[in-house]
Amino acid sequence: MSTSTLPTKVIVTEVGPRDGLQNEAQPISTAIKVSLCNRLLAAGVQSLEVTSFVSPKWVPQMADAAEVMAGIIRSRGVRYSVLTPNMQGFVGALTSGANEIVIFGAASETFSHKNINCSIAESIDRFIPVVQEARRNNLRIRAAVSCALGCPYEGAVAVEKVAEVVQRFADLGCDEIGIADTIGVGTAVQVQRVLEAAARIVPLDHLSGHFHDTYGQALANVFASLQVGIHRFDASIAGLGGCPYAKGATGNVATEDLLYLLHGLGIETGIDLNAMVETGQWISAQLGRKSNARAGNALAARKENH
Ligand code: HMG
Ligand code: MG
Repeated sequence: MSTSTLPTKVIVTEVGPRDGLQNEAQPISTAIKVSLCNRLLAAGVQSLEVTSFVSPKWVPQMADAAEVMAGIIRSRGVRYSVLTPNMQGFVGALTSGANEIVIFGAASETFSHKNINCSIAESIDRFIPVVQEARRNNLRIRAAVSCALGCPYEGAVAVEKVAEVVQRFADLGCDEIGIADTIGVGTAVQVQRVLEAAARIVPLDHLSGHFHDTYGQALANVFASLQVGIHRFDASIAGLGGCPYAKGATGNVATEDLLYLLHGLGIETGIDLNAMVETGQWISAQLGRKSNARAGNALAARKENH
């Protein structure tokens, strides 16, 4: 197959420090979180989801959001994003010097209640002032549509439901809308159908893919998305993570595996794969387990053998 129709550049948003670590039951020191962020930035990550300004009662691991933001190295042109479910979170984000916020809604009512304690419609109302203030302060606005390929509570989610939420986020004026497979159940053609429906609402450049790898479909879904023309993907170093409100869901596609695929296709990312492999092995050692990155582990083993 020719790769000439695929994008030539992809923007990878590294979500490991947020989506990856939020689900960790063991305490992780702020120093390790900061060190992880700084290693990722040193490897060339240009878009880093650092942490969440959410209720520490809901997600205790993100309670040190302000301290993590204070410790990371800042460079021009790099995006430092944080999750902001409401105005309280937005104030934290602004004070911490984030230059991108992430509002997160869902295409499933039950998941919306479980994750942010309100209905989809209420969440959109809650995001209105957040988006207005973000705009006034020149922050980029990213939105995530959870359960776009299936819900842990409701099962199948209709494409029309996803399109409705994409439309609401588009109406709010979001700069980017992430189509999220929270529990990693989607398969390639289903992903293409959802993305094509979203692309009828917003330009392709405003869409991104956020694929958890629970069913081992994430890389296939990335490739299917590339075929549709999507060129923004979230990924998590060492495949860390999951969502505390989607039990059993594993991490996002591992960044090392995503880079291995993209670079193999001749697609530029600006990120140094070797440095990411080292970082993936480092954070896995800190957490006391083997990395979930298949290419990451293979490349690390190859280096050891040499
Ligand atoms: P609530 O309990 O309805 O909120 O939670 P509330 O407004 O009634 O406030 C209750 C308490 O929370 C108060 O404290 C507030 O101050 C505090 P108290 O008076 O009891 O001491 N509070 C906050 N504290 C810090 N920062 C805040 C904040 N807001 C309220 N921003 C709320 C509603 C949205 C806050 C809660 O449900 C929440 O924090 N949810 C976040 C859940 C979360 O982070 N989930 C994981 C991230 S989403 C995800 O992983 C999916 C994604 O990766 C895409 C995908 O894969 O699908 C993005
Ligand atoms: Mg996620």
